[in-house]
Amino acid sequence: MQSDTILIIGAGGQIGGELTMYLRNIFGSNNVIATDLKKTSGELSESGPFEELNVLDKNNFIEIVKKYDVTQIYNLAAMLSATGEKFPLKAWQLNMDGLFNTLEIAKDNAIKKVYWPSSIAAFGPTTEKQNTQQNTIMDPVTIYGISKLAGERLCEWYFLKHHIDVRSIRYPGLISYKTEPGGGTTDYAVDIYFKAKAEKKYTCFLEADTKLPMMYMPDAIRGTVELMETNAAKIKIRSSYNFAAMSFDPQMVAESIKKIIPEFEIDYKIDFRQQIAEGWPQSIDDTPAKNDWGWKPEFGLDKMTKDMLEHV
Ligand code: SER
Repeated sequence: MQSDTILIIGAGGQIGGELTMYLRNIFGSNNVIATDLKKTSGELSESGPFEELNVLDKNNFIEIVKKYDVTQIYNLAAMLSATGEKFPLKAWQLNMDGLFNTLEIAKDNAIKKVYWPSSIAAFGPTTEKQNTQQNTIMDPVTIYGISKLAGERLCEWYFLKHHIDVRSIRYPGLISYKTEPGGGTTDYAVDIYFKAKAEKKYTCFLEADTKLPMMYMPDAIRGTVELMETNAAKIKIRSSYNFAAMSFDPQMVAESIKKIIPEFEIDYKIDFRQQIAEGWPQSIDDTPAKNDWGWKPEFGLDKMTKDMLEHV
């Protein structure tokens, strides 16, 4: 049987970098093609193939798919919630047209599987805040969230109409020491660890009690690949799966850090991201992911804090 060739779009991003290296370990470096707007030096371009690709450039996208006989596409190129509010048209174009190109190319070429990330941002202010269900009210009020909800519908449409094997996860805030996030509302939960280590204090842009669903990156990467490696017959949801590990607020992270760095201090200077966060769920019910493909997280807050502070 011919093995798969996997194309990663947005390999330089927060999820893309770690996912690329994880997949190269499993499938072999030459079978995982990393792409991003610009080639950078470092492990991504040195450990395997790297191509410059703007997901909006459909011709170049097709050329790369053909050049490498790509059979799986992970499209991770997106503008996140906070930056998206500043550049709404650009965010819409990148998030939607990038997905359209991916799904059209999947339809017209020998692509066996597509991965596309959704987010808790696809929910909105009137969605229930606790244990948010898989199927519930979704009324996002950020451009990013609107693009994620529309994208979920698009994924399901391509599955139903064109039998594209597309799979997706609604990520919570993701925390990693390897790649910094860019322009999200949950970015504080990464920055706080870097500042705790370097300066022993952090000024947070969300209120102390703003609770949000979160996940440590090793769980997120493993879960993503587990979903992609599950037998297609088990995948019952073709929009996007709820996906959960833990929920916390800034005060709780500060307390967790203080167990290791007792002199750590947090203060607050709230900005526009507070309003975005208030429109999102506080905790997620991910029963379908558990039942359909056996999802189980490994990291809670204190275990993540220990690992983050060891590595940042
Ligand atoms: N972490 C993302 C953000 O804050 C949510 O998907 O925008």
